[in-house]
Amino acid sequence: MRKPPPNPHDLSRHDLDDILGTINEEVRQRFGEGEVADYIPSLADVPKDRFGMALALLDGKIHEVGHSRERFSIQSLSKVHTLTLALEAVGDGLWRRVDREPSGDPFNSLIQLEHEKGIPRNPFMNAGALICADVILSNFDDAEATLLAFMRARSGNPEVGTDEAVAKSERESGHRNVAMANFIRSYDNLDNDVQDVLDFYYLQCSLCMDCVDLARSVQYLADGGHCGASGVQVTTAEGATRINSVMMTAGTYDAAGDFAYYVGLPAKSGVGGGIAAVVPHVMGLCVWSPGLDEKGNSLLGRYALHRFTRMTGLSVF
Ligand code: DON
Repeated sequence: MRKPPPNPHDLSRHDLDDILGTINEEVRQRFGEGEVADYIPSLADVPKDRFGMALALLDGKIHEVGHSRERFSIQSLSKVHTLTLALEAVGDGLWRRVDREPSGDPFNSLIQLEHEKGIPRNPFMNAGALICADVILSNFDDAEATLLAFMRARSGNPEVGTDEAVAKSERESGHRNVAMANFIRSYDNLDNDVQDVLDFYYLQCSLCMDCVDLARSVQYLADGGHCGASGVQVTTAEGATRINSVMMTAGTYDAAGDFAYYVGLPAKSGVGGGIAAVVPHVMGLCVWSPGLDEKGNSLLGRYALHRFTRMTGLSVF
């Protein structure tokens, strides 16, 4: 009789520290590849010879390697957390204002918005994140304090904060976001003042965290909505499943197909070089390396995740 394949979810089969060490060695040989996101001046100075990776297991154990405790600009990784907050605030009603389909277009594209009458294609494009920002502003007394408290509680790190220089840089270079927000407003799909929505969006992009913080911050998506760091049920198990599915189909911009092919995990990237990912029922994880590929995803971060799922067998496919 044919033997059943080994169960990759049984973590005792893997030497996770050894696997992280091997990935770190491989990645270091390739330092310098990719380009930093210089369209935001304050991100242009981040050195490219950085790589960190952290795994946050459901029992609270952390495995980490490289520059895993160096803080970086989380940028669009925050779109996972704001989607969670917006869904918790208004439930499925959110999907009347933003769709949940992959876009195949760059994250800052305006092109679909006119055809689709101001309904962004998904919450992980900038346009969709502006809708989540609007929902959060409408449903919480102090939206910025709510987001900050959410990030601190999810990561278990009360020191999580924002980088004012990045927020300022976003504000000064955010011409496309300004156009986008006004365009969406013209379809009556924003309730709050356009500038307030943009300010909240810039704040979420300027949050600064390290790989360990971020791996912990998405662990609730691996654990049926339960956050290990705070002991809080953040969303339902169904909510976590749904958010993971949107990460899989739209979390890495117009490279989501490529990510499914090479990595095979729900993931969300940011132009600061971070990628947060989820192995459902097993762990939250985060990689960071600032050099980006042509789609804006961390080039070495993607490579590291590819190697990780191949060495462990933990791709969801
Ligand atoms: O809106 C911007 O220009 C950036 N702060 C976008 C952040 C990012 O990582 C890409 N987003 N989906």
